[in-house]
Amino acid sequence: MKIENLLRNNIRALKPYKAARHDLNAKGILLDANESPFENGYNRYPDPYQKQLKKTVANLKSVKSEQVFIGNGSDETLDLLIRAFCEPNTDNVIIMPPTYGMYEVLANINAVECIKAPLNKDFSLDAERVLVAVNSRTKIIFICSPNNPTGNSLSDSEINKVLENFNGIVVVDEAYIDFSNAKSTIQLLNKFPNLFVNQTLSKAYAGAGLRLGIGFSSVEIIHVLNTIKPPYNINSLTQSTGIDLLKNESEIQANINLINAEKKRLYAELFKLPFVVEIFPSEANFWLVRFKNAEDIHKSLINNGIITRNRSHELYCENTLRITVGTTEENTQLINCLNQIKITE
Ligand SMILES: Cc1ncc(COP(=O)(O)O)c(C=O)c1O
Repeated sequence: MKIENLLRNNIRALKPYKAARHDLNAKGILLDANESPFENGYNRYPDPYQKQLKKTVANLKSVKSEQVFIGNGSDETLDLLIRAFCEPNTDNVIIMPPTYGMYEVLANINAVECIKAPLNKDFSLDAERVLVAVNSRTKIIFICSPNNPTGNSLSDSEINKVLENFNGIVVVDEAYIDFSNAKSTIQLLNKFPNLFVNQTLSKAYAGAGLRLGIGFSSVEIIHVLNTIKPPYNINSLTQSTGIDLLKNESEIQANINLINAEKKRLYAELFKLPFVVEIFPSEANFWLVRFKNAEDIHKSLINNGIITRNRSHELYCENTLRITVGTTEENTQLINCLNQIKITE
């Protein structure tokens, strides 16, 4: 499979914008970019290729820097993938509901059809169903594992089946992988040049406000994304803070351990509530919980200043709320509040 053949015609022909400093070692007197000369840490444009940040990521994940893409949040990365490969009003992508809502929104924004090949009712992946949904205009398949909003990891062998039988781009979105014991599909990059692994600093790395998404793929795909991205998509402060976060492995791991311990406690407490019907297996930092009446619980929690996500309108998710694991104090407040609801109902 040639990645180049999958590209939109205009992207294949694109002459990218080049800043004056792209090819130069930015040392000396910088009079090329109409910046302010007064040093304050951010008076210069940031490195458009994020070399230091990519080096840090590459070392951590044992890949080459050229296999790393940095997006302004992984949502930007997902959008760029659609823009690179999908001809508007012609091509399509496949998603597997219930899943992360932005895949469909991004497809709609780009006038790209979004075909739905649902997960099984137990939220497992049926590769065969996905492959049957593929047609000659299918360019991207989005697989989310661990899946949002359900929390479960999808089976390696089913993901492999999709990768082995689809001649387009397969995005495996691993936004929640750091909370899970599942192996990252990064290990498959050398086998599948059409695989794109999407990760983010927004979840386990406590960096949602930074907007820092990290993508891993073949050198060819990363090159395309670098060609079409806004030149300075990652600001200087985010680049340097991102490096600090990634180097702080022990603290990040301690936080993950804490979240996972709290997640267990939350499960035990939720399980005791008479109006909880089901708690779905989760490898992420949240639980999807089925209630007798999710709408009422959602409202009562809001009235008590606790915001959860009502997912009841997603496929197979009737009467569910998605509840993020917070700090010990926050989780205790949530549990206390739910116990009160039990008394008044
Ligand atoms: C599965 C999934 N992918 C991607 C994202 C977006 O992450 P980012 O903050 O990096 O844009 C989210 C955010 O909730 C998510 O749940």
